[in-house]
Amino acid sequence: MTLQDKTALITGGSSGIGLASARALRREGALVAITGRRRDALEAARAELGSDVLIIEGDVSNLDDLQRMRDAVDAKFGHLDILFANAGLAIATPLETCDEATYSRIMDINVKGTFFTVQAVLPLMREGGSIILNTSWLNQVGAPGRALLSASKAAVRSFARTMAAELLPRRIRVNAISPGSIETPLHRQSGQSEEAFRAYAERVGAQVPMGRMGRAEEIAAGVVFLASDASSYMLGAEMVMDGGRAEL
Ligand SMILES: NC(=O)c1ccc[n+]([C@@H]2O[C@H](COP(=O)([O-])OP(=O)(O)OC[C@H]3O[C@@H](n4cnc5c(N)ncnc54)[C@H](OP(=O)(O)O)[C@@H]3O)[C@@H](O)[C@H]2O)c1
Repeated sequence: MTLQDKTALITGGSSGIGLASARALRREGALVAITGRRRDALEAARAELGSDVLIIEGDVSNLDDLQRMRDAVDAKFGHLDILFANAGLAIATPLETCDEATYSRIMDINVKGTFFTVQAVLPLMREGGSIILNTSWLNQVGAPGRALLSASKAAVRSFARTMAAELLPRRIRVNAISPGSIETPLHRQSGQSEEAFRAYAERVGAQVPMGRMGRAEEIAAGVVFLASDASSYMLGAEMVMDGGRAEL
């Protein structure tokens, strides 16, 4: 196990990529805390992951919640080795119709939430620690209707560079992971049948050079790599895991 006795915090760890990463980090021996806004989803995740997992309810765009998150991690672990700043929102924001409230919502969660999540836990981060920021393949392409999602994820990509430089004296590495289209609840519409979702996944998969959407477990494998000493010479970098979508 590569992460034996390391402590890890995953924001948005109750679903999708965050939940798969919690599973993978635990498998590698890490002690894990997960966050999210919905208590029921957190409890369901803990029931699956194991009763030793710390669950913390809170919204990453709320600075009081982030302080509570930091205090809960401090009380349980006393320090932190790994942060996966993963919580994020993906919604369409067509230029002609997007309103100010939607602008604020996406920027508050994806940009402000990521920045202040890192700030909140910094006092707990130990030397040799690893911070992983979840960006997106969309940070480097011009997809219609995705202006704010793409810009917010480009900001997150940029944070990985500046934070890496800023935290270098503390020997904390910061890198970004950049998923392509991954089959998670983020892509599911409420009430959508499994059949309708499969048809959607096939349509999206056909746009990917590898011919399919990705799996959350595939991104989690990248998170484990970035969290561990196997990636010890990576700093301020972006690990693209998108089936070739933004590259070919
Ligand atoms: N799936 C993809 O195709 C894809 C591609 C590129 C990048 N990403 C990025 O990957 C990350 C995870 O996405 P996913 O696909 O795994 O989505 P998901 O299955 O919908 O999971 C999102 C997680 O984040 C939590 N969350 C959302 N907003 C939050 C907030 N304001 N404060 C705290 N927690 C919050 C959710 O729990 P609650 O709802 O209970 O808060 C949930 O645990 C996001 O940053 C997303 O932009 C996803």
